[in-house]
Amino acid sequence: MSLKSSIDSLRKDFEKEISATDGTNFQELDRLKHEYLGRKGKVTSLFNELGSVSTSERPEMGKMLNQLKGELHESLNSLIEWSASHESAENSFDLTLPGDEFPSGSLHPITQTMREVKRIFQSIGFSSAYGPEIDDDYHNFEALNFPKHHPARDMQDTFYITENDVLRTHTSNTQIHVMENQQPPVRVICPGRVYRNEAVSVRSYCLFHQIEGLYVNRDVSLAEMKGTLEYFCRQFFGEKVQSRFRPSFFPFTEPSAEVDISCMMCKGKGCSMCKKTGWLEILGCGMVDPAVLEKVGYDSQVWSGYAWGMGIERLAILKYGIDDIRLFFNGDVRFLRQFV
Ligand code: DAH
Repeated sequence: MSLKSSIDSLRKDFEKEISATDGTNFQELDRLKHEYLGRKGKVTSLFNELGSVSTSERPEMGKMLNQLKGELHESLNSLIEWSASHESAENSFDLTLPGDEFPSGSLHPITQTMREVKRIFQSIGFSSAYGPEIDDDYHNFEALNFPKHHPARDMQDTFYITENDVLRTHTSNTQIHVMENQQPPVRVICPGRVYRNEAVSVRSYCLFHQIEGLYVNRDVSLAEMKGTLEYFCRQFFGEKVQSRFRPSFFPFTEPSAEVDISCMMCKGKGCSMCKKTGWLEILGCGMVDPAVLEKVGYDSQVWSGYAWGMGIERLAILKYGIDDIRLFFNGDVRFLRQFV
């Protein structure tokens, strides 16, 4: 057989073989490459036959061989490249392995509790208002009917920034800001941070959160306040919880009360959590003192209202059975992860 027909038949053989593979099997393509283009491959052995071709034909035959070699290289290499990249992707991607776990963050339990309280009051028409954390004596005390040097100021240990400015001791300052800027009716809750100069312990911290509530309208009754706060207790702590109103004192409300709920640990029988009383105090409230309404320029003959204030940490402690208020502030992820 002449070299020319050997070249032609080799090309045909190769085309047959390559179309018999699926073109994606790396091993098979690699084998073909060796078989045809390797050092002892079929194309190479045809090159070795060039020596026995007559000198007149040799240049032409050489050219044909080089062309064949080029064609085979090209078609094999492009298929090999493609299959190699796909094969390595397939090998390194085992769909049966469990996925990587992404650590996901979560909202702080105080934020969660705050949002839950807001949601409940929003659902009955209260909007949110925010006041300053550094405020003057007037808004934190004076306008709330705490006269200077009045012993009621001792109820709250105050951080003074200057002689006249304090870190607010309660969110009640926001009541005053809201009423100064708005005519009645008023229906707001005021969430935020408050500060007290107290020794840090299991029960108290120098910083905590409150939500204040204020409703002012014509002829507001104490019964409405009871209804609203009882509704809140049931929504927040569950339908089974009992609540009671106990007379108390705040300078800015008259009459004043504190609300207790039945202890969820002992179901009212008496335990260490409720100090054997069966009840847990959760908030302070009362009818807004007419003197406070007059301070913001509301006519107390026309307008009346109720207000309340509650500690968010306290609500969260009771709801989740937490035994140390400091846990909310030290950023220990083992604690925080329990609220994911
Ligand atoms: N400001 C009170 C406190 O921090 C809580 C409070 C009690 C707020 C009665 C009120 C209220 O609006 O009517 O202890």
